[in-house]
Amino acid sequence: MTDTLTPVLTANWGDDRSWSLAAYEARGGYGALRKALTELQPDDVITMVKDSGLRGRGGAGFPTGMKWSFIPQDLPKPKYLVVNADESEPGTCKDIPLMMASPHTLVEGVILSAYAIRANHAFIYVRGEVLHVIRRLQNAVREAYAAGHLGKDVHGSGYDLDLVIHAGAGAYICGEETALLDSLEGRRGQPRLRPPFPAVAGLYASPTVINNVESIASVPAIVANGAEWFSAMGTEKSKGHVIYSLSGHVKRPGQYEAPLGITLRELLDLGGGIREGHELKFWTPGGSSTPLLTAEHLDMPLDYESVGAAGSMLGTRALQIFDETTCVVRAVLRWTEFYKHESCGKCTPCREGTWWLVQNLAKMEAGTIAPEDGEKMLALLLDQCDNILGRSFCALGDGATSPITSSIQYFREEYLAHLTNRGCPFDPVASTLFA
Ligand code: NAI
Ligand code: SF4
Repeated sequence: MTDTLTPVLTANWGDDRSWSLAAYEARGGYGALRKALTELQPDDVITMVKDSGLRGRGGAGFPTGMKWSFIPQDLPKPKYLVVNADESEPGTCKDIPLMMASPHTLVEGVILSAYAIRANHAFIYVRGEVLHVIRRLQNAVREAYAAGHLGKDVHGSGYDLDLVIHAGAGAYICGEETALLDSLEGRRGQPRLRPPFPAVAGLYASPTVINNVESIASVPAIVANGAEWFSAMGTEKSKGHVIYSLSGHVKRPGQYEAPLGITLRELLDLGGGIREGHELKFWTPGGSSTPLLTAEHLDMPLDYESVGAAGSMLGTRALQIFDETTCVVRAVLRWTEFYKHESCGKCTPCREGTWWLVQNLAKMEAGTIAPEDGEKMLALLLDQCDNILGRSFCALGDGATSPITSSIQYFREEYLAHLTNRGCPFDPVASTLFA
């Protein structure tokens, strides 16, 4: 495994006015689009993306080319491309920097992907809170129309494409693809039953491809350099380069683009390591919805298969690093409060369950349960998680249980210490309250 960075999506982030069309084209930007329109049929682009091994970068890792090939071309309905830019998973911060630094990489990816699935309308659904990103994207779209990359008869090819930037209203659940579609259609965003998957019945009940920002932004380089170039990076089943977001107790937090399969130890070396005088306690491989891991997983390759085998998920590669000064119970309580707040309320296990999880975790964290009842409370928490996991309507409910079950697995004694200490052992004030 290499420990070197592979800047592809991030290659131009340091350029002067990297977000402008002029800067993007100066580096060969929109060359892949011209190549596709003159040399490739839509199906060739699908084959290329399939052969590259690109898997969805939003977290689930579903093969992108395969998803595109599910679009029924014989159905007499419009086809749509929707980019999921509603990045909200706690700790995840790769799509927003990408859209800020290089919006044209995404716009070119949108045109290539829409061309491949024969869509004439595309949408980028962005979080409503990030006004600066929305403005930057709108500016890039304006520039692309003016340059003939978008609109009627793109570069005289006979292909038409309109691209709309749509601002959401700030609900985590609208990052779930079917809730996103409801929201885009003007309704309250709540998940729909799948199947049918959006590829068959998506936006306005028409065939729709929904992909994450990073997935779509990866397409121009694949078209420009070929499928083999991309699949030569990464591991056997997890191909290519991805953006890892390092945050927390690291000397140099930020986005690091590297092949799939790099280890956390290698990434920490690149990021300057854990802050001076401290050591790794726990970390998330892909945001708080993915089970926590510990120092024993430092040398595990960060690819879909290896992280799955360790009992977690690669997810969005949001590597949140916590050193030994962090109370794991408090961190898990904060995440659980987030899930309770963001639960859309559609199904009972998640709506009621996340509320109960917060109540019980809060008692545990405050140490207001008798020490002899600690094991009973842990069993209750695990039972509540068991009644949410796999019984919720969408992945939000499942994700809410991940930090709880994994933290009890690795830090059971720390939970119980909150009870014997009558409060958080990491909090000097709480520790003296009942002394
Ligand atoms: P999923 O595995 O159910 O689906 C993944 C994609 O494959 C979807 O686009 C789905 O439509 C498609 N798909 C799956 N089976 C299909 C079939 N048989 N036919 C056609 N299409 C099919 O995963 P889901 O629920 O969409 O996403 C969960 C992931 O989202 C988690 O792994 C988590 O890491 C990630 N996530 C990311 C967030 C972010 O901010 N980027 C926020 C929260 C979660
Ligand atoms: Fe809504 Fe939660 Fe049920 Fe998903 S799991 S549908 S967010 S209540």
